[in-house]
Amino acid sequence: MSIEQKIICSGIGFLLTVIVGFWLINSGKPYNTGIFTVHKLIALATVILTGILIANLLKGIKFDIFIIILIIMGIISVLALFISGALLSVGNIPYSVGKAIHVIAPISAFISIGLSIFLMLKKLR
Ligand code: HEM
Repeated sequence: MSIEQKIICSGIGFLLTVIVGFWLINSGKPYNTGIFTVHKLIALATVILTGILIANLLKGIKFDIFIIILIIMGIISVLALFISGALLSVGNIPYSVGKAIHVIAPISAFISIGLSIFLMLKKLR
């Protein structure tokens, strides 16, 4: 798979995760197990693919502290998504707190990871 194809697949995976996330909320509580599983699995596959993409891009560029900071912010956002998602599903966190984290983290993940990929591509060309 080329770098461009990985970027497209990772974007589609992110979009699908968000769409299925809203579908999960609209299906009511308790969460529908099937939709919840699809949401988790697409998220996991997207994270793995994006991780491989970032590792490939990193190999081709010189060390850049700004890009590393963006990638670390992306990793923290993704961890926050997985932890808040898991805690929301078992009800081990006040709903408003879990919800706030699960709404803010996709935005910060998208911005930090998207910008890091953009900057790495610019350096490669
Ligand atoms: C790339 C990773 C992920 C993204 C971008 C993402 C995004 C979203 C979005 C946009 C929503 C609907 C709006 C909201 O409440 O935030 C949602 C809902 C939800 N997601 Fe995720 N999610 C991700 C991973 C996960 C994972 C790994 C889990 C479980 C372990 C999870 C569990 C949930 C739950 C339980 C809801 C319903 C929240 C509610 O009732 O308000 N999510 N997700």
